[in-house]
Amino acid sequence: MLFGLLIVPLLVSGSSCPVYKCGKSSTTTGRCISFSNSTGVDNYVITPCIQGLACDFIPEQSSECQYPTDYEPRYPGEYCAEDQDCASYNCFGSKCLGLSAGSACSSTSACNAGYYCGTSPSVCTAQLAVGATCTRTIQCINSAVCDAGVCTTYFSKALGAASTLKDYRGIALACSSGFISNGVCAAAPVSNSTSVISCSFNTSCYAKDGVNKKTCLCSYDGKSYCPLFEGDSQVQQLIQGMPTINSYSSQCHTLNRFGYACYVNMPSTALSYYLTWAANAELYWGNEWVYQKTTQKCVNETIQAPYLNIVKQSTSQYYQCPMYSKTNTTARWSANQCIFAANDIYYDNHYTTIQVNDAVCPSGQACYASPNSGGNVTCTSVALRYAGDYCSASSQCQSGNCTNDACVGISLDQKCVNPTDCNPGLFCNTTSSKCEYNVAVGGNCSNFYHCQNNLTCNLNTCVPVYSLANGDQVDNSTTYGYNKACASGFAAYDTTTYSRKCAIAPVSNNSVNALCNHGTSCSDTTGVYTKGCQCGTDGNAYCPTFEGDPAPVKMIQYFKKIANYTTKCNSANIDAYCFKKSSTMMKYYNYYYTYYTEYMDGPTLKNTEDSFLADFYFPEYWSAYNSIHSSSYGSTLAMSIAALIAFTA
Ligand SMILES: *[C@@H]1O[C@H](CO)[C@@H](O)[C@H](O)[C@H]1NC(C)=O
Ligand SMILES: *[C@@H]1O[C@H](CO)[C@@H](O)[C@H](O)[C@H]1NC(C)=O
Ligand SMILES: *[C@@H]1O[C@H](CO)[C@@H](O)[C@H](O)[C@H]1NC(C)=O
Ligand SMILES: *[C@@H]1O[C@H](CO)[C@@H](O)[C@H](O)[C@H]1NC(C)=O
Ligand SMILES: *[C@@H]1O[C@H](CO)[C@@H](O)[C@H](O)[C@H]1NC(C)=O
Ligand SMILES: *[C@@H]1O[C@H](CO)[C@@H](O)[C@H](O)[C@H]1NC(C)=O
Ligand SMILES: *[C@@H]1O[C@H](CO)[C@@H](O)[C@H](O)[C@H]1NC(C)=O
Ligand SMILES: *[C@@H]1O[C@H](CO)[C@@H](O)[C@H](O)[C@H]1NC(C)=O
Ligand SMILES: *[C@@H]1O[C@H](CO)[C@@H](O)[C@H](O)[C@H]1NC(C)=O
Ligand SMILES: *[C@@H]1O[C@H](CO)[C@@H](O)[C@H](O)[C@H]1NC(C)=O
Ligand SMILES: *[C@@H]1O[C@H](CO)[C@@H](O)[C@H](O)[C@H]1NC(C)=O
Ligand SMILES: *[C@@H]1O[C@H](CO)[C@@H](O)[C@H](O)[C@H]1NC(C)=O
Repeated sequence: MLFGLLIVPLLVSGSSCPVYKCGKSSTTTGRCISFSNSTGVDNYVITPCIQGLACDFIPEQSSECQYPTDYEPRYPGEYCAEDQDCASYNCFGSKCLGLSAGSACSSTSACNAGYYCGTSPSVCTAQLAVGATCTRTIQCINSAVCDAGVCTTYFSKALGAASTLKDYRGIALACSSGFISNGVCAAAPVSNSTSVISCSFNTSCYAKDGVNKKTCLCSYDGKSYCPLFEGDSQVQQLIQGMPTINSYSSQCHTLNRFGYACYVNMPSTALSYYLTWAANAELYWGNEWVYQKTTQKCVNETIQAPYLNIVKQSTSQYYQCPMYSKTNTTARWSANQCIFAANDIYYDNHYTTIQVNDAVCPSGQACYASPNSGGNVTCTSVALRYAGDYCSASSQCQSGNCTNDACVGISLDQKCVNPTDCNPGLFCNTTSSKCEYNVAVGGNCSNFYHCQNNLTCNLNTCVPVYSLANGDQVDNSTTYGYNKACASGFAAYDTTTYSRKCAIAPVSNNSVNALCNHGTSCSDTTGVYTKGCQCGTDGNAYCPTFEGDPAPVKMIQYFKKIANYTTKCNSANIDAYCFKKSSTMMKYYNYYYTYYTEYMDGPTLKNTEDSFLADFYFPEYWSAYNSIHSSSYGSTLAMSIAALIAFTA
């Protein structure tokens, strides 16, 4: 929790700083912090949780991965995705709802933002204005603290004014200087250096004045450093930023007035101000001045994650792409659910987590999904094969009839309903509802599957695939992009003739599928064509593949090799099962399909070293990829994914 009003004890036992080590595996769903002190020194072994689960760091304790709101239920006014996120079990319009004014209450956490639980009577009571008598800060409005029994605006008292309130870090919350000496607001001490000063464990750090001191504190690197003094520029900035925060904080709950979960619900100006303020304030309040001296990945991904996420969000136009994980923690899932998608806050970052578990699907069912499609998914029946596809049992076919290793379809002039119903060489004419011969070159069509499979429908005429020259007209659209009729595979709108024409295919400006910022666009080498930056599956965003890049160029070359053979396939659905009877054609198809997938799904295929992503979302791709690379294919999928990078380059 980001600087709530709780006091965090600095528990350290032993004669030196705690030791933090990373666990053997990269992630876990179980124990994320394993604590021991048998050697006399505190030792923590840290294994980050899978995406969606979080690790609560409690000094001198072990910890298990949990849903963040299980240990940090949100207060009224804060963001929620479902009822159980809220302490009140009441989530409405993405905000936790609490008790309204005058309702009987037993704790302040139950009352709505703007209220605290009064004592006589015990009802939700409006927070007190500046000047009112108080006993605790939580009674005062969020822009004020309870100093010497009076609600006082944060950091408002001039030098020399009487004040008693200091928080757990030593800052005087009512004084404009942030410091109290001898019961009055006084000039705050400063550090000797603007950079972090090393010190010895359990000694004192003296300020420049040689008088004021603070205890030397341990970081996560096993060493110790001096914390900031109240006169240091970072603390003074925190104080100066407070009036603006005060203008937003009235929407927050009194118990968590500066918490991310409240500000994330606010308009972007307020949120962005908050993020900048909080990133700095955490240096003092969260002791990040000392803790930022950390180098270990497992520490960054757990204990340090909330702070690092605040910094990340405050320093860039930061959009967190969805994060994917495989999980066995499916207790909250509905029956037959294989993908659980949740928009939520994890480690002070608001994003979508996609958790998958295909093992839940019963036999005969599978979890069909593509990355970035979002949402929950339930298991569905395994897809049946189309007329013309290879089969070994009738149960594999849509038609329920496998004869001579092929799924039998409907024959010429017989009644059909769906485009995939007819035998190879035929298409289902939905006007006459009969299977008819596929249309040859130059014949009329209104859809690609009317034409023979080595042709496509362009301007209502069947033309060979990838055949038209640059400048030839294609189906009208005001945009540019992939076109199967063009030899280049690409067509663009021509503003002089108001029509779309085949054109030279654009090539990625940077390396193919380069990193980019979500929300921006990626350009080709000419700067004429752009494509939106797209989320990958590793939390980063990547540029899509352009039509002139190596993968789509090779995709076209390999399609030409299989084009005539595809006339043996279902006219509305060409898939791998059609090629099983010819090993040469199967090989060409596998090349075609891998290049096709790299063209279509470049960003989502990128860095899928977590092998479950490859297996889960791209089984056909990996099956094709492995069969053409069988000689060089290593024992792990991760190796073949590493090879993919060289393969696409
Ligand atoms: C720190 O120092 C104080 C005073 O010097 C001593 O009482 C205390 O036991 C020390 N704590 C540790 C953990 O060494
Ligand atoms: C180990 O930690 C526990 C708290 O978890 C504490 O009670 C105990 O005194 C510590 N032992 C040593 C040797 O520091
Ligand atoms: C800072 O300087 C003062 C004297 O100017 C000295 O007494 C003090 O020990 C120094 N503090 C640190 C942390 O070096
Ligand atoms: C951990 O975070 C710190 C602070 O941002 C950074 O300097 C360091 O490189 C990170 N370490 C790793 C291994 O990611
Ligand atoms: C899930 O459970 C299965 C069977 O108990 C186990 O083999 C697998 O490693 C577990 N997966 C994860 C991600 O914990
Ligand atoms: C996803 O599934 C969970 C659990 O079954 C459910 O609580 C949640 O509302 C679902 N989300 C969406 C967007 O349907
Ligand atoms: C399956 O299709 C074949 C070939 O069209 C046909 O001879 C056979 O009768 C069909 N079997 C069934 C059970 O419909
Ligand atoms: C193709 O369509 C045009 C007009 O829609 C029609 O005049 C022509 O006869 C058709 N040709 C064939 C071969 O069906
Ligand atoms: C489909 O059937 C209709 C009506 O019999 C016919 O006019 C048309 O040419 C056929 N072909 C296509 C491609 O629609
Ligand atoms: C193509 O579409 C644009 C915009 O809809 C239109 O202005 C133009 O006339 C169309 N061109 C042709 C040849 O149909
Ligand atoms: C496909 O058929 C056409 C016409 O018969 C022929 O010209 C072409 O060479 C064939 N393509 C391949 C790859 O065999
Ligand atoms: C399409 O394939 C068929 C069957 O292989 C062949 O007869 C025909 O000539 C091909 N057409 C073209 C344009 O390649």
